[in-house]
Amino acid sequence: MNPADPSVTLSTTTSKKLCVGLTGGIGCGKSTVADLFKKLGGRVIDTDVIAHHLTQSKGIAIPTIRSTFGNEYIDNDGALNRDKMRELIFSEVAEKKRLEMILHPLILEQVKAQMLQLHTMPYIIIVIPLLLESPAFQHLIQRILVVDCNEDTQIARVASRNSMSKPEINNIIAQQTPRAERLRVADDIIHNDSDIDNLVAQVTILHKRYLNTN
Ligand SMILES: Nc1ncnc2c1ncn2[C@@H]1O[C@H](COP(=O)(O)OP(=O)(O)OP(=O)(O)O)[C@@H](O)[C@H]1O
Ligand SMILES: [Mg+2]
Repeated sequence: MNPADPSVTLSTTTSKKLCVGLTGGIGCGKSTVADLFKKLGGRVIDTDVIAHHLTQSKGIAIPTIRSTFGNEYIDNDGALNRDKMRELIFSEVAEKKRLEMILHPLILEQVKAQMLQLHTMPYIIIVIPLLLESPAFQHLIQRILVVDCNEDTQIARVASRNSMSKPEINNIIAQQTPRAERLRVADDIIHNDSDIDNLVAQVTILHKRYLNTN
């Protein structure tokens, strides 16, 4: 089937395909795990990457963000001023919702387009940090894969990755779905408290299982 053919729809091509939603709290290891699936030959759609494209210079979300939030949220080069927006949305939940109402429909559209492109693959991993808060994304997937680690490790890894302070990190964790709830709804869990070799072993087992699911 040719995905460019208008008769090829998402439901006809992917209804029997295994689509796994990969989620987890900030810094728990979603991107690291996604890269390991890719190294094993798995195909990954990353909603963070899509969101970044939408909000870079000339990104298609920029005009709406500018008209909604004002010029001061757009850099001189025409990209989203990420630091300023992060500051706003973590202090005002309503502003976070406003940004999501602009971005989520655009992200969803692009995820669906990428799913069509990957319709011959045995399984697809879709990285969706906000999966548990966003019903629209839950319709795309059959399984929820949670990457989990204890909160001290999570905070230490985020702090060593960039300049975020401990209170800022705690604030973000407090706004995300609680760890216990994530673990409760998970179909599969990757425990990321150990080293990368341990992570590779867990991803390898899941990769083989997902290949044999269809
Ligand atoms: N098992 C591990 N051992 C050591 N460092 C790790 C391990 N897993 C992840 N990291 C590091 O921890 C940091 C967070 O990991 P990663 O970026 O994969 O998390 P994430 O869930 O994608 O974060 P975000 O929510 O910000 O997108 C990165 O610097 C990564 O290299
Ligand atoms: Mg990430």
